[in-house]
Amino acid sequence: MPLARPIVFGNWKMYGLRADSRARAEAVAAFARPDHGTVGVFPPFTVLREVVEVVGDRPVVVGGQDCHDRPEGAFTGSISPVMLRDAGAGAVIVGHSERRHGLGEGDDFVRRKAAAARAAGLLVVLCIGETEEEYLAGRRYEVLDRQLAGSLPEGAGPEDLVVAYEPVWAIGTGRTPTLEEIREIHGWLRRELARRLAGGAEVALLYGGSVKPDNAAGILAQPDVDGVLVGGASLDPGQFRHIYEAGGAGR
Ligand code: PGA
Repeated sequence: MPLARPIVFGNWKMYGLRADSRARAEAVAAFARPDHGTVGVFPPFTVLREVVEVVGDRPVVVGGQDCHDRPEGAFTGSISPVMLRDAGAGAVIVGHSERRHGLGEGDDFVRRKAAAARAAGLLVVLCIGETEEEYLAGRRYEVLDRQLAGSLPEGAGPEDLVVAYEPVWAIGTGRTPTLEEIREIHGWLRRELARRLAGGAEVALLYGGSVKPDNAAGILAQPDVDGVLVGGASLDPGQFRHIYEAGGAGR
């Protein structure tokens, strides 16, 4: 079943010890409604199991922030998609810019992670986005095209893939593209996914990068924006709830 819109996913990054993560998860579980879109949280691995337990049977997706491309092996420090699934996760982010650019992970590795995550039964949240330098050089579409070509897992569809457009220069900076730019990019993404994947037109598209309570409604109202991936503001349950509610009744 395709995910109900709007989709509001919170990436907690490397924030949260057990007590505050439990409190955050409890708050999200308390406002999540089965009749209102899809809400999800992506806690650090160390608290993922606890968040799964706190959420229980409430309608909250819980996911990992990354995974390896193998089910097991001699890969010190890595977590496999099978392990995530075993811990109760339903989804995983791959290709986040803090790993692509921060840790030098390339398209091919991202694609293999995504394929392994699908094989393990996880929803893949695949992130793509250009750097500021690429943006200023007018290379945005060229970069997005290359990232799609290199990191989209074969055979994926609306049931197991979400694509998040996250311009690197907008992440954690308080800057965002204009609504016109977001509309144009997501329209382009919709056409590209339709061309590249069977059922690709139905794949949910998220915008990420400095989504806050005061800009969420405008972003979520754009025609091809099915949801948002929220970093900083997802750490504050009040702000995260506001963003979730800003999505309206869904479509
Ligand atoms: P931000 O992060 O909302 O803090 O800009 C978004 C992300 O990294 O997914």
